[in-house]
Amino acid sequence: MGYFDTLIDKFAKDQELEQAFGKHIHWGYWEIPSTAIGTLTDFAIAANNLSQLVIQTAQITDGVTILDAGCGFGGTISLLNESFSNLNLSGVNIDNAQVERAREVIKPQNNNNIQFINADACDLPDFRESFDYAIALECIFAFPSRKIFFQQVRKNLKSSGRLIIVDFIINPQISQFWSWFEIKILSRLITDTYGSKATNLVKFIGIKEYEKVANQTGFKLEKVIDINKNVQPTYRVINKLIVDNFNDWITAKGLEIFSQFNLINYQILIFQ
Ligand SMILES: C[S@@+](CC[C@H](N)C(=O)[O-])C[C@H]1O[C@@H](n2cnc3c(N)ncnc32)[C@H](O)[C@@H]1O
Repeated sequence: MGYFDTLIDKFAKDQELEQAFGKHIHWGYWEIPSTAIGTLTDFAIAANNLSQLVIQTAQITDGVTILDAGCGFGGTISLLNESFSNLNLSGVNIDNAQVERAREVIKPQNNNNIQFINADACDLPDFRESFDYAIALECIFAFPSRKIFFQQVRKNLKSSGRLIIVDFIINPQISQFWSWFEIKILSRLITDTYGSKATNLVKFIGIKEYEKVANQTGFKLEKVIDINKNVQPTYRVINKLIVDNFNDWITAKGLEIFSQFNLINYQILIFQ
């Protein structure tokens, strides 16, 4: 069983763990990576800073409608709720346990509306309003299909709307080798790390493939922001958890090494 499958139960006994993973289930962002100190508390701040960066990059303002697909425990929605007013926020997640926790923990403030829905991001429910923004933060690789997700978002996004994806992007130099690595090692790493409630299968792609999906679904890739260097300290924290819990040193180090050599890059993609 994956680490994240047992997370909610562990939160009750371990406050530091809840602080680190109770809001966000994604990598941390350090403006100056050398300042990272390797603790769960420091990681929690960095994870919040990543959501903050996504919000700033998207140029979100008061009064807009936002879909957070694969919202997890709703950390980004929580930050939006604290920072802005008159927002219509919809979080969608495939795992009902995460949805229930998000509903329990995050209460609307600042005249914001919040709904958390248990659904597949590739089979979105009917929304009453179109969205100004759709976000998929470190989760699209687990969705059944990027193309179907883009199509679903297109149907629900205003024509002026933006789709913001945070994902691991494969360097084209290694795309052949990557297919092998992904099947043999990476799927195991991600499933072990996030747990089967988060994902059973992962698929990482390169920028060219993203551009193709965008063209096929009526989007245009507007901007790519590479923050690979800024997320590196995450591995120090995450790898220890994987080794402690699964004794799986090879998979723990695998993604880190690829990422250190920029063969796989952590990026924010903005589509119009
Ligand atoms: C790494 S977590 C990221 C969670 C959240 N975006 C965050 O940044 O904290 C990946 C999330 O994607 C969700 N997920 C996986 N497949 C999904 C799908 N088909 N539809 C909706 N959510 C999905 C998982 O349950 C998990 O919460």
